[in-house]
Amino acid sequence: MRKPDPCVLVIFGASGDLTARKLIPALYEMRAIGALPEHFKVLGVSRREKTDDAWRAELAASVQQHAKRWDAERWAEFAKCIHYFAGDAAQTAMYSGLEERLRKFDEESNTHGNRLFYLSVGPELYESIVQRIEDAALVTEGKRWCSINSSERSWQRIIIEKPFGHDEQSAASLNRTLGRVFEEEDIYRIDHYLGKEVVQAMLVLRFANTIFEPVWNHRYIDHVQVTAVETVGVGNRTAFFDSTGAIRDMIQSHLLQIFAFVAMEPPTAITAEDIRAEKIKAVRAIRPTTPETVATHGVLGQYGKSADEDAYVDLPGVAKGSTTETYAAIKLHVDNWRWAGTPFYFRTGKHMAKKCTEIVVQFKPPAANLFPGIPHQSGKVLGNRLVIEIAPFQQTRLRFESKVPGTPLSIASVEMQADFDKQFGVEALEAYGPLLIDAMRGDQSLYKHRIEVESGWAAVMPFLDSSSATIRKSIASNYAPGSWGPAAADEMMARDGRAWHNE
Ligand code: BG6
Repeated sequence: MRKPDPCVLVIFGASGDLTARKLIPALYEMRAIGALPEHFKVLGVSRREKTDDAWRAELAASVQQHAKRWDAERWAEFAKCIHYFAGDAAQTAMYSGLEERLRKFDEESNTHGNRLFYLSVGPELYESIVQRIEDAALVTEGKRWCSINSSERSWQRIIIEKPFGHDEQSAASLNRTLGRVFEEEDIYRIDHYLGKEVVQAMLVLRFANTIFEPVWNHRYIDHVQVTAVETVGVGNRTAFFDSTGAIRDMIQSHLLQIFAFVAMEPPTAITAEDIRAEKIKAVRAIRPTTPETVATHGVLGQYGKSADEDAYVDLPGVAKGSTTETYAAIKLHVDNWRWAGTPFYFRTGKHMAKKCTEIVVQFKPPAANLFPGIPHQSGKVLGNRLVIEIAPFQQTRLRFESKVPGTPLSIASVEMQADFDKQFGVEALEAYGPLLIDAMRGDQSLYKHRIEVESGWAAVMPFLDSSSATIRKSIASNYAPGSWGPAAADEMMARDGRAWHNE
């Protein structure tokens, strides 16, 4: 694997939560395993005046809290590469100073003119920052050349956080702005779910084995569930969340990415181009939901009052009478040869019964029942089920039917389990770390392509635009905190003769 290139990581939004809670702890972890480039600098950009030392001290407190292991000496060594630059990213004036600071790094620290810009700011600032990066000529090598021959030339790349736009049009507009300044090869649309071990492990599970792929299609699979539910509420992010909602926050981004890995065809090779080409095809094959079917294919919810928190709609920062969803369950069909007739159900929610991120692949029962009169622990043959758990545990479980020892003949469902944490004895890395290293290496395999993002928006828009009015209007407090969501979501499944995997 190619070593990451020397570079400066320029974080716009340095005072934000993401920088302190995720990015810096992830980089600290990467340094601990020797994955960072030898010549490397972090330059945090934010408005407040602060010295390098003051910022380092703030970050040290956060790393102690969020990194898996804290070692004061190791931190002190790592912190030397962290610097701060005070400036308003929305003002042109600061960019000349920024340019000068970056040039100084190149002279003193051999960072070779390589820059990795990270937009960790409010999405409303994305386009103006990209424009200012161009105006200040911070993308010095022009476009295409820097990616092709990065060992000889300097490169400038950009990582953009989600939400990437708020609908198809705004995502396309952001893509156009980015495309005017950077080549597609230098644009890294990040989704931290793609840095999770188990999501990547889907590729290996599906394509390094022979037993799954022959049955991985509509002939054998009844349906797939992709779930990401959390026990926490929206916390202090009400302003962000109320203008975003669960579909934009989770389904359009994270859950559709998981879907792409489950539904894609085998890539020709494990390269960014090949993987992304297949993911794009899978996302584009999602059948558009018509306004007439939104009500039967989607359920939205808002959590009600709990013992220690107000109902969502009464939280400070939430608009009066807000109809923003804290829960969403949607059904999508995929119109291609492999998946025609096999629905995918997506579900996400705050303040739910448990924290759980998983993929459930429910196989069809056998075509003929050879054991009609035989007692079954569950009353009937259930069909095989593969559960790929991403969080809280990294596990894969396969359910199948088995004879109960003894006589007379009776049947029970049993489960085989592979536990990644126990099996390999290694702790999963914070998802952002390997993704940042990939960007420094110029590997986009685990980043989203322009078309994937735009097609993802197209798939969920009917559940967000005016077509969703019927399912949106009566959502206030329609599920209790700590529950499995609104009853209507269970009814949606029951109408299809199915049930959510709530175990
Ligand atoms: C973020 C969302 O992208 O993912 C949050 O904005 C959510 O609302 C979080 O809580 C969940 O991430 P994870 O890794 O804990 O599943």
